[in-house]
Amino acid sequence: MKVLLPGGTGHVGQLLRRAWLREGHEVVVLSRHPRPYGDGTRVVGWDGRSAGPWTREVDGCDLVVNLAGRSVSCRYTPENLRAMMDSRVASARAVGEAVAGARRPPRLWLQMSTATVYAHRFDAPNDEADGVLGGAEPGVPAYWAYSVRIARAWEAAQREAVTPATRKVALRAAMVMSPERGSVFDVLSRLARAGLGGPVAGGRQYVSWLHGADFVRALDFLRTREDLSGPVNLAAPHPLPQRAFMRALRAALRVPLGLPATRAMAELGAWALRSDTELLLKSRRVVPGRLTEAGFTFTHPEWPEAARDLADRRRAGR
Ligand SMILES: NC(=O)c1ccc[n+]([C@@H]2O[C@H](COP(=O)([O-])OP(=O)(O)OC[C@H]3O[C@@H](n4cnc5c(N)ncnc54)[C@H](OP(=O)(O)O)[C@@H]3O)[C@@H](O)[C@H]2O)c1
Repeated sequence: MKVLLPGGTGHVGQLLRRAWLREGHEVVVLSRHPRPYGDGTRVVGWDGRSAGPWTREVDGCDLVVNLAGRSVSCRYTPENLRAMMDSRVASARAVGEAVAGARRPPRLWLQMSTATVYAHRFDAPNDEADGVLGGAEPGVPAYWAYSVRIARAWEAAQREAVTPATRKVALRAAMVMSPERGSVFDVLSRLARAGLGGPVAGGRQYVSWLHGADFVRALDFLRTREDLSGPVNLAAPHPLPQRAFMRALRAALRVPLGLPATRAMAELGAWALRSDTELLLKSRRVVPGRLTEAGFTFTHPEWPEAARDLADRRRAGR
């Protein structure tokens, strides 16, 4: 098969690229700064927002997975929030127009979305059928609603594209955990090793996560399941409170202690790391309702085991 990965130069793209190259598929990445990988991947330039010669790559390809978007690991200033919104909506629209205009359109367009679309909650997990979308929760910072608006606009850009020959799935992904340098798992592991892997603001907030290997397997599953379209949660079936999540990570890394942090300390730390506390404090209790119903099984359903596997891989890769 020929796969097109707009924004495929990042962490998630790397997982997909490697897995699908290994299986002998043709992988083409769209990047604003095309550089050769030297591993068989073809990298083609685009600007992430308008049509260009890159649209020829859509014609005749089998699968498009759009991953493009300004990183969310940044300070949530008004400028950065706007860039997060604009880059996601513009790239999804550009992909939609290319798919709509293709003579031989792909059979499937997987569009990255995020588990952040759901409400901050503790009481019950969010699946696709009964989950509560965020944006109106009381007692949370007002700008958290903006992240939900980004996710909804991102999904709308895909939904509104008129692509009758192409099935569309919005991937409401939780944090994808892989051992590579710079990944979420790497960042959390470094914090834990520095003694900062304790509960944050009490640690009651839920963490939803997904092992990178299961992320790739879930996309392969979606490829084969013609009956699935629309939003699909990509998260391991057992999200857990941040306190327990970090305890299991520390155990996997063999770090005995993790200092607790107050909300104010987390604010300071996030600022120093040029990040935002929403990533730490929002309770993302998201479960894979549709995947499970469709018969998908996870290789790494439980975090303690997944963390041990990732920590082993990280050690082996060093
Ligand atoms: N990683 C996760 O755990 C996770 C979970 C849920 C959702 N997501 C979403 O999934 C997508 C991929 O995740 P990732 O971790 O691979 O992200 P990433 O490492 O930040 O990669 C995203 C790619 O998007 C491109 N990009 C950045 N700014 C852009 C802009 N202004 N316009 C167009 N393209 C731009 C970049 O490619 P070039 O610089 O080469 O153009 C970059 O490599 C992101 O949209 C992310 O929000 C990720």
